[in-house]
Parts: sequence; C-alpha cells; structure tokens
Amino acid sequence: MCGIVGAFRRTGDVLPTLLDGLKVLEYRGYDSVGVGLVQGPGLTIRRRAGRIDELASRVLAEQAQGGLNGSVAGIGHSRWATHGPPTDENAHPHMDAGGRIALIHNGIIENYAELREELIGAGVEFHSETDTEVLAHLIGRELAAGGRLADAVRRALPRVRGYYAIAALAHEDGEVQLVCAREGPPLCVAVDEDGAWLASDVLAILPHTREVIFLEDGDVAELEPGKVRVTDGKGVEVDRPARTIEWEMEASDKGSFPHYMLKEIHEQPDVVSRTLYERLDLDAGDVRLDGDFWSDESLGNVRRVQVLACGTAFHAGLVARYLIEGLAGVPVDVDYASEFRYRSPILAPGTLALGVSQSGETADTLAALRLAGKLGCARASICNAIGSTMVRESDATLLIHAGPEIGVASTKAFVAMLVAAYLMAVRLGRAHGRISQEEGRELLAGLRQIRPHLEHMLTREAQDHIRDIARRHSSVKGFLFLGRGINYPIALEGALKLKEISYVHAEGYPAGEMKHGPIALIEPGMTTLVIASQDSVADKVRANIEQVRARGGQVIAVGADPGSLELAEDKIEVPEVGPWLSPLLNVVPLQLFSYFVALEKGCDIDKPRNLAKSVTVE
Ligand code: M6R
Repeated sequence: MCGIVGAFRRTGDVLPTLLDGLKVLEYRGYDSVGVGLVQGPGLTIRRRAGRIDELASRVLAEQAQGGLNGSVAGIGHSRWATHGPPTDENAHPHMDAGGRIALIHNGIIENYAELREELIGAGVEFHSETDTEVLAHLIGRELAAGGRLADAVRRALPRVRGYYAIAALAHEDGEVQLVCAREGPPLCVAVDEDGAWLASDVLAILPHTREVIFLEDGDVAELEPGKVRVTDGKGVEVDRPARTIEWEMEASDKGSFPHYMLKEIHEQPDVVSRTLYERLDLDAGDVRLDGDFWSDESLGNVRRVQVLACGTAFHAGLVARYLIEGLAGVPVDVDYASEFRYRSPILAPGTLALGVSQSGETADTLAALRLAGKLGCARASICNAIGSTMVRESDATLLIHAGPEIGVASTKAFVAMLVAAYLMAVRLGRAHGRISQEEGRELLAGLRQIRPHLEHMLTREAQDHIRDIARRHSSVKGFLFLGRGINYPIALEGALKLKEISYVHAEGYPAGEMKHGPIALIEPGMTTLVIASQDSVADKVRANIEQVRARGGQVIAVGADPGSLELAEDKIEVPEVGPWLSPLLNVVPLQLFSYFVALEKGCDIDKPRNLAKSVTVE
C-alpha cells in the first residue's frame, strides 16, 4: 500500500534521496505524496495530492530559490488512501499539535475513531480525516511527557489497535531523532558509515547499500548515521542481522520500454531461466531444491496441500492444484486467503499450507498462513521477495527469482509462480513415487523448451498481431474469458488483467459453465476470448466457440488447437507444449492483449486507478 522512506545523514541534503526513494516506491500508492524535513531549529513538511513528480518539481524549485536546503534527515510518503480522500490535508506526513514530530504511516489504525474522540476531548485540534494523525498526536504527547522519541513511540503504540509501519522524525534542541516501528506492514532499515535509511521496500534502500535489516512485528528501530538500534516494545534490544540483497537496481528501471508492464512481459523468458537455474537434475529426472524440507522423507509426509493466495497469485495457486494433483497425486485445496482466514477451516493431518505471493507481504495471505500454522500445518511458500515476512515465517520457500516487479498488474511473477508450481509438483511426484525417473526427465525436458517458445511469442511481429486485435476489440462493451481444465485459471487471469488496467468489464469462466448462465451475455458487441489448447477437452472448447458465434458474439481464440483457431474470427496461435505447460504460454497473449487494450484507451497502465502493488492492509 503506502510507500515509506526515511534518511539520516552526517552531512549533506537528504531531500533528493527521499524524492528518489519515493519515485521507486510510487507503485505502492500514488494518490498523494509528502516529505518532512529537519529544517532550521525544527521540522518542515511539504505534501500534496497528486503524483510524486508534481511535488518533486515544487520542492526542487523551492530549493533552487534557496529554501529547503541542507536537511540532514527527513521522511517521505506516497499514499494509498484508506481514511479520508486524497487531499493535500490528508497527505502525509502529519504533525502532532505541539509540532514536535512529523509522522508517516502505512496501515490502518482500527480504533482511531475512539482515540480521536479522546484526543479531541483533551483539546487536540485535528487537521485531517486520516487515522494516522491520531498516531502523531499520541506520540507527540508522549514525547512532551519526557524521554526520547523511541520511548514515546513505545509508550504510545500499545494504545493502538491495527496494523502499521511508521516513521517518526523529531528535531528538538539541535538533536535529530528518527524512529520507525512495525506491526504488520513491511519495513526495512540499513546503515553505512555516512547514513541510515528506512523504507517499506528494499528497492528504495538498494542505491545506498545491499545490506538490509528486515524489521519484525513489534520492533522499534532508532536510526542515526552509521548506527541502528532495534528493540522490542519494552525497550529490550533485539538482534536483527542484515541480509545481503542481490537484486540489481537496473532491474527496477523501465529501460527502453514505455511501461514497466511491457518490460516485465518481455523479461519472462529470462525469468523462466532464473526460476529454473540449477534446479533441474535432468539425469535424475528430478528437481533440486535446497533444504531438508524438500527431501523425499519430509515431502513423503505431505498428504494434502492447502494453497493460500490473493489475486493473480491465487490464479497461480489454481494452476498449482492441477499440476500437483495431476502429476504428484496429492490432493490440493485452493482458497482466497481473505476468505480462509475468516472461516473455520478443517485441515487434515499432513496438510502442507502453501502461500503464494509475489510480495510476500499481502496481509490476507500472511494472516491465512499464520492461521494454518496455528492449526498445525507446516508452511511453505512460493514467493518473489527475499527477506519478506512470508519468506521469514515459512518453514521453506521456493523463491521464484522474478526480480523486482513494479507494474501493478502482475505478469512475470505469475509466469515464475507457474514454473515454481511445476517444479514443486515434480518434486512431490518423485517423493511420492508417483513420477518415475524417465517421466521426470520428460517433464523437465519440456520445461526447458519454454524459454525459446516465449521468445518466439514476444517478437515484434507477434506483438503487432495482438495489438491489432486489441485495437479492434478495445471499444466492445464487455469480455468473457473462457478456459477449461488447467487453462481455466488462465481465463480468470486474463479477465483480471483486462479489468485492472483497462477498466473494461471482463468475466473469467470455466468454458463448461457458459451454458449455465453467462451465455445470456452473448450478443454482437460482446467479445469472448477462448483459451483453446490441444488437450482432452479440445472438442468441447470448439463447441463453446460455435455456441458463441451462433449467437452473434465475436470470438478470439488463443492456443494451440488448430480446430478452435479455425472457428474464431481472430486467432492468436500459441506453440504446442502439452497440457501441463500450456498455461505458461497461453497467459502471455492475454497479458499483451490487456496491455494493448489499455494503451488504446489511454489508461495509466503502470498505475491503474484505485490499485496498489502490495496490499498490506485488509
Ligand atoms: O504480492 P501478492 O502476489 O501477494 O499480491 C496478490 C495480489 O494483490 C496481486 O496479485 C494483484 O491481484 C495484482 N495486482 C494482480 O495483477
């Protein structure tokens, strides 16, 4: 959700550092933005509704005229509104009534209304509609009562119910204090000889250092140049070792592409290679995964898998079900994490809870995995973000190595999740004796063909063909996406991508369900996109196409089945790779299709309205 940055240097000016950090984190929330700086004897804030570029040009102009210079410490925030609309007043930082502290926050304070009442009763005047301002006043009042800022934070936070990552800045009597704390949303800190940094995402820290400390729930960190002290809520120092982050910063750059989404779609061949790297043992017909967790003995005890995920990761989890059940013979349930966490799930002994998440910070997925853990399950994850909460809380993780994904619409992480699910299914199948060495070899050899096929599907010519189809369908009134079997989740994913970035109504359905309701939607002006693989249900998919056409609907067929392609007005041919691997290829034209429809409609592709990349609140 919101992006948080902070910096404290021995000398120099942190404003450009904060603006660069906010730019990198803008994908987390982009409806308003602000900075708080140590200036003169106190603090100064600048904040406004709108994008980072607008604030940056204003504050840099102010600097050019001699203002806002030489701040050695500051905090910055890009907002995704929860309480109060995106206005200048609701933008962060917020200050306490005494002007002692500036505070930024990512999360939700659930008891903010009662705290606000209480503070108003005590004579505090509020200037925003946010839940965050309550925190600023609570901490400011504690600071006024005595002690250091970190003490004030530790005294104030127990009064708060909810989720937060906060950073507070104070500047009194010539002393700068920068403190951050976490309960729920992610927060990391780092130091080198000259400075200290905090951010809600490592991407904002990587330009300064690769050695990053990930804070845990309940942690309070005090930062100063060259030093960070992390304590628990009682002030007892806790050890949080730094981890080395290998991600390259260039990977978070748009390069020559007009949008991150297109760049990330084009990265998919490389991503597949990285996910597979050193994991294929072709001779043994098996998958190499580090750690005892993945051994025959340990996986042999897995009787059932419970997948927990949200959004695109949920769709990857649905594909994982087909793979794990089909290849390994292990039953799989897949739940939306947001639903699972609020029902009373019954998990049989031997159930492995599998979280799937790009960010590893999605609040619902984390809560669902924790619940599964409490109910006695071992916890594994398929995740992109090294050091994320999900990775740290899992007994084992299959990292997907997709690199930073900035486009809000997830693309390359999805494909990498499918590859990881395939690897896991093969390993489980081998551990359960369900896949022979020879079968393992064949399955893994198939996986090695994916990269060249993806490259072929991303040529200029292939892209132009999809662009042309997207242009012709961009003003239809709605879309139905149909798929069967292992490609049913791909229909869901195609519809989600289109909704997310082009704001066109799109429904994903199992093709066999069309006759039970959605067929009523079919008429001229309604486009049905059918995923048509050469599999055991290919003839049924052809019948679906006939039924749509008979009712005047337009059909775009995507896949390797020549019979289906023949029947459709528009066709996007996909190489034949067999049913298990077909989702990996079939999803790519759907990603490009949604991209080009959104482009045609002039939508803000990398920052679709109302969305945020990492959903760290409920
Ligand atoms: O970081 P996660 O994979 O846990 O995120 C889950 C969803 O929020 C995410 O996939 C969302 O649906 C994307 N915007 C889809 O493009």
